[in-house]
Amino acid sequence: MNLLRTTLIASAIAATFSAPLALAQTTSAAAPKLKVGLMLPYTGTFAALGNAIENGFRLHVAEQGGKLGGREIEFVKVDDESDPSKATDNVNKLIKRDNVDVLVGTVHSGVAMGMAKVAKDTGTLLIVPNAGADIVTGAMCAPNIFRSSFSNWQPGYAMGEVMAKKGLKKVVTITWKYAAGDESVKGFKESFEKSGGKVVKELSLPFPGVEFQALLTEIAATKPDAVFTFFAGGGAVKFVKDYAAAGLKKTIPLYGSGFLTDGTLEAQGADADGLMTALHYADSLNTPRDNAFRLAYAKAYKLQPDVYAVQGYDAAQMLAAGLSAVKGDMSKKAELSAAIENAKINSPRGPFTLSKAHNPVQDIYLRQVSGKENKVIGIASKGLVDPARGCKS
Ligand code: PHB
Repeated sequence: MNLLRTTLIASAIAATFSAPLALAQTTSAAAPKLKVGLMLPYTGTFAALGNAIENGFRLHVAEQGGKLGGREIEFVKVDDESDPSKATDNVNKLIKRDNVDVLVGTVHSGVAMGMAKVAKDTGTLLIVPNAGADIVTGAMCAPNIFRSSFSNWQPGYAMGEVMAKKGLKKVVTITWKYAAGDESVKGFKESFEKSGGKVVKELSLPFPGVEFQALLTEIAATKPDAVFTFFAGGGAVKFVKDYAAAGLKKTIPLYGSGFLTDGTLEAQGADADGLMTALHYADSLNTPRDNAFRLAYAKAYKLQPDVYAVQGYDAAQMLAAGLSAVKGDMSKKAELSAAIENAKINSPRGPFTLSKAHNPVQDIYLRQVSGKENKVIGIASKGLVDPARGCKS
């Protein structure tokens, strides 16, 4: 065989074998971006909450160089307007029109229930970064449904124990009439009455109403030892201001789930001073993890973070835990789910794990407002596990 022929054969062989390799390299370099569907409220009483969640989520992605599990992240956004009647259409748009790989949403419990139904039916991965609807990690629990936040039962239950220990006996509750309000009050009542207290009146108004006057008059006439409440966002700002303006703050102590005073203190001003609430985050944790998070968040957005920012950040951490276990391959559903389920999330709130039903097992802090901060004054409940009633998985 002459030299020229030998060389030609050798290069032909090399070309044959290297072609698929070159192709494979090109394919992996151009791995499609991972589409994250953000379904959040960007208008209405919860608009600030939706923005904080998105900011937190993006911060974690940015800290990972824009990639999770080796895949670049692309966002598709929908404003859900905290409107449950539009939930199914909105979530279907993200799944069918935009072909998102994962759903992240939302704030409002009623909308989240609509999302969870579609996620369950389609098998799309859903991470809930706020809405506490008990059923999402209760009867609707599923391998592909996770929550980075809390169940409505959790802060309510923790506060019931605290208020009973304070020796309070007669309490009036006031909230919006929808899942989050009803379930916060139910959680509160469960522990408060178990410890000897009595809920003497349950007041409510439709979401997102802020006509509190008649209800405040009723509270004044009932003269309870204290009031327990769930309000959040713009509604919480107005409620705290109206409660003080009605002269009730001096006579009937106001307690709540911590959403009452989270992300709201600038607007509430002195009217929020001294209020005690229970929540899985606070402004003064002063741990190296939280300090680093708060600094990075403030640098990126020129804003102080709140519980919603933390929940968004942790939703991204949960997705990252799943994606890195499957090296970005979303088709490995069981492996991805197991990795999220078994992850220990290094959250700014403190490390947490997930229950079998995929809700955080976490400390609930007792906080008091002081100088525009929710300061930790104790632990209301250590490692509180949602009972996940109705979850069969
Ligand atoms: C809810 O609807 O589940 C909800 C909304 C706002 C909060 C907390 C819970 O701050």
